[in-house]
Amino acid sequence: MYIPLFQQLDSLLTATRDYWQFLPFATPPGQWQHSYPEMYQWLAQLKDDDLQLYRDDPEQLARALLPWIPEAKALLALSELKSLPQVSRPLPRGMDAGVPGRKWQQLEAFNGAMPALGLPWLEWCAGKGFLGRVLAASHFMPVTSLEWQAGLCEAGQAAAHKLKLPMTFVQGDAFSADSEQYIVPEQHAVALHACGDLHVSLLSRVARKKGQAVSVSPCCYHLIRGHAYEPMSAVARNSQLSLSKQDLKLPLQETVTAGNRVRNLRFLEVSYRLGFDSLQRNILGQDSYLPVPNVQKALLNEGFEAFCRWAAGQKQLPLPGNIDFAVWQNEGEQRYHWVERLELVQQVFRRPLELWLVYDRACFMEEAGYRVSVGTFCDKPITPRNILIHAERTP
Ligand SMILES: C[S@@+](CC[C@H](N)C(=O)[O-])C[C@H]1O[C@@H](n2cnc3c(N)ncnc32)[C@H](O)[C@@H]1O
Repeated sequence: MYIPLFQQLDSLLTATRDYWQFLPFATPPGQWQHSYPEMYQWLAQLKDDDLQLYRDDPEQLARALLPWIPEAKALLALSELKSLPQVSRPLPRGMDAGVPGRKWQQLEAFNGAMPALGLPWLEWCAGKGFLGRVLAASHFMPVTSLEWQAGLCEAGQAAAHKLKLPMTFVQGDAFSADSEQYIVPEQHAVALHACGDLHVSLLSRVARKKGQAVSVSPCCYHLIRGHAYEPMSAVARNSQLSLSKQDLKLPLQETVTAGNRVRNLRFLEVSYRLGFDSLQRNILGQDSYLPVPNVQKALLNEGFEAFCRWAAGQKQLPLPGNIDFAVWQNEGEQRYHWVERLELVQQVFRRPLELWLVYDRACFMEEAGYRVSVGTFCDKPITPRNILIHAERTP
């Protein structure tokens, strides 16, 4: 069922990869001016207010880009996901003690989207077991919660004890062979926001051990152990796309409406980095991006010159004595505006790329003999990682 959807997305994303598979930071305006002159003109004339307007309205953005990216319309249509049916499951009072507000809304929604299969639960990468608590309290079935951090296991076990819930925490590494013993056929395994390879490891082990059901809400696709993405399904292994860790970060770059302080800080840091990049290209006479490590935010208050001296020290780059720092700072600010415009183009591809990754997982489970459904379990303001993959083994 998901293979045709995957294939449609795959061919659209492959055809358009020049518009999303690149690093905006490392792409100076001249490159686009040369390759896509008309689109460059359109992007360059956008005011900051226009940017915000398009960020808030994906349909209008897709329409505006149609002259150059005709695939944008189909990609937008394919990004629509149905919301999964919700069952209201009232919980005893006090269950939300110590759970941050948004997290609680996620848990209720995740629980509401779970079919009641009457199976014991396995909670993978449980943290303090917030989800396990909710499942134990509303389904009256035992929960095994696997978590790496001993402190979280202790806190979770103590809370479960206090609430008289049938939960057992096991401290263990989800990747180890030892953890495999907790995955059994008669079980419903769940993972809420287990990063990258952690939820991938759950899906592949459930399939191998013929677990009855598994539900995961994926996040942090870039947190993988290899250098590049390894597709799970046969259909994705046939794709021409090959995704780097950088590409895998794209679905996570949500356009949050940050406050002024955060926006100003980002402007300062990114424009300083880009100004330094232009300066190093000039000094070294080379045309490639030079990444600089993380910086202590306090250094940004000391100004652009101080930043350049620090960055040059980090990269062991001797700075000549006659640098006009104001020129390079201005260059960095111009490039910052350009990066924002390139990120706007990439925005069209964020959700489609996320769905490509999600459907890879869904197709893998289908190939392993499971009936799969993919949908959203809550609205985006509650969490932007709101996709749920549910798979049940067919008899
Ligand atoms: C993003 S948190 C999600 C926690 C919980 N599922 C929730 O939604 O509140 C990811 C959890 O995975 C745990 N974790 C990370 N690596 C792990 C590993 N190798 N084995 C088991 N747990 C791991 C972390 O300690 C953390 O508690």
